[in-house]
Amino acid sequence: MDLAARLEALALRAEQDVRTVATLERLEELRVAYLGRKGELAELLKGLATATAEERPRLGALANEMKQRIEASFASADQALRTAASASQLAGEKEDVTEPGMRPPQGHLHLVSEAIREISAIFEKIGFTRTRHPEVDWDHFAFEALNMPKDHPARDEWETFFVDAPVSETHGKMVLTPHTSNGQVREMLRGELPIRMINIAKTYRRQSDATHVPMFHQFEGLFVDKQVSIAHLRGILDHFFQAFFGPTRRSRLRPFHFRFTEPSFEIDISCGICDGTGLVDGAKCRVCKRGWLELGGAGMVHPNVLKAGGIDPDVYSGFAFGWGVERTYMMKEGIKVDDIRILYKNDLRFLQQF
Ligand code: PHE
Repeated sequence: MDLAARLEALALRAEQDVRTVATLERLEELRVAYLGRKGELAELLKGLATATAEERPRLGALANEMKQRIEASFASADQALRTAASASQLAGEKEDVTEPGMRPPQGHLHLVSEAIREISAIFEKIGFTRTRHPEVDWDHFAFEALNMPKDHPARDEWETFFVDAPVSETHGKMVLTPHTSNGQVREMLRGELPIRMINIAKTYRRQSDATHVPMFHQFEGLFVDKQVSIAHLRGILDHFFQAFFGPTRRSRLRPFHFRFTEPSFEIDISCGICDGTGLVDGAKCRVCKRGWLELGGAGMVHPNVLKAGGIDPDVYSGFAFGWGVERTYMMKEGIKVDDIRILYKNDLRFLQQF
């Protein structure tokens, strides 16, 4: 057989072989055997070298043509095998309609919302009612009626945002409430006695650093009735501490000064790590150092405040307390964050941990 005939025979045989192939692996083996660098075609082409100069162009062209025929048959077989493979895979994948569905991821309330709910529930159980009072309010309710006359230096402690609004002749400027104590006189003016109020709201101060955010939340308790004493305040505080933080926690009052309460206190809670002793295995407690953690302010409502609320201080007395929701919640959970602002960044990696 001359070279031309052998080329044609090769192409024919390759086409027949390819037709019988059942797998992609086998097809690849055949491709290497026919078209590979050391395959049959390459072997035949070596014969070109000995062809005469007149024959060579014709033989070269023929060789090319055969090569393309062989390649084409491989390509179509490859295509056919792939189509068949995916069809049989699909046929094997039956849908099981009885399989349980995928649950959508379930979120939860923000930590602060959860804390607010929990705090309200604890006070509601003992007869307090959650009230709402303005978060943008007159100077009068934020300061003046709380026994802090205009320009009184005590006001400096509440780094206040003033709102650019017309000044009221009777109530002064408008402020973003720097504490929830504005709810005290507002609640008294509603005119219902006795008062058992829990006021939880946003509060604003000109502060922003690792331990302060300009917007935070406070909760404010106000209890006004006949013959209310500091003992009642203690009882309510202990109730709250034990319900919120755990049955072994206790409160401690330290003398302090607020203009709107007299006497005034700072309230501490016994440390949950060392149980108020300040010591863990003979060493200083690393959480509190002295056995107590500072929480917030409280006191017996100042007579001037009762008067501003239209209540006769000779007949009625009361106590008030108030402090930050965020701080209280973090203390309970033992959450230590380097930067409190993370609470409001809405980074799910943080929030999903709770
Ligand atoms: N309003 C005070 C504060 O923001 C706390 C306080 C509330 C003190 C009620 C006494 C009574 O610091």
